[in-house]
Amino acid sequence: MSRRKLVAANWKMNGSRTANAAWLTQFAQERPPCETVVCAPFVYLAQVVAGLTGDVAAGGQDLSRHEPGAHTGEVAGEMLLDIGCRWVIVGHSERRAQCGETDAVVAAKARRALGLGLRPIVCIGETLAERDAGNTLEVIKSQVAAILSACSVAELGRGAIAYEPVWAIGTGNPATGEHATAAARAIRAALKHAGLDAEAIPVLYGGSVSARSVAEFAQADGIDGALVGGASLDPDEFAAVVRAFA
Ligand code: PGA
Repeated sequence: MSRRKLVAANWKMNGSRTANAAWLTQFAQERPPCETVVCAPFVYLAQVVAGLTGDVAAGGQDLSRHEPGAHTGEVAGEMLLDIGCRWVIVGHSERRAQCGETDAVVAAKARRALGLGLRPIVCIGETLAERDAGNTLEVIKSQVAAILSACSVAELGRGAIAYEPVWAIGTGNPATGEHATAAARAIRAALKHAGLDAEAIPVLYGGSVSARSVAEFAQADGIDGALVGGASLDPDEFAAVVRAFA
């Protein structure tokens, strides 16, 4: 079946008002052939929402698992919606590794996003040590199971799952299309096991996707888009990645 395609930029902790304005002006010339999302740092999201054109949507890179209230430094999903975001990245490996986000926290954040009508891009993926120990598919299975413990079957279909092997992120060494396909198959098997209509959910690949490496993933069976870090900082390169998923 043909699933919707989705490409998301993850600017991570990069950008400035001047650099973002130039990016937005340049990208405004594009007419993306698939669903496209730009996930910027919180403080720049209003600028990004205002500067995006057409159907290109803005997204947060994280959200609080709490309701608005006494949580200093946190940003609530309600606030992301309030300023015009439609998407949010949840459980990125950098947050898992640098901010101590456990599978349970990631699941709670995905649940919170879905409850608010914010579409989550939930990230999963194995570390180098896990891959080298031959545990890739086991890790995928348990990370998907954790998400499903908090999110209903039907809801998750409104978002996407991003398979991002940690060893491929920011290294310039992407996985192979074959590896991504095997991971997508394991993700869908885990979803099906839980009774989900796994065929309807887009699975993105992330990890050193660039204009040069994207063709491999655009052609990979079971992969429906990309989550793009470093290469998304250049609007022309990001546009080339988006066009690969036409
Ligand atoms: P990268 O990052 O494209 O720079 O490898 C991807 C990600 O972390 O989402």
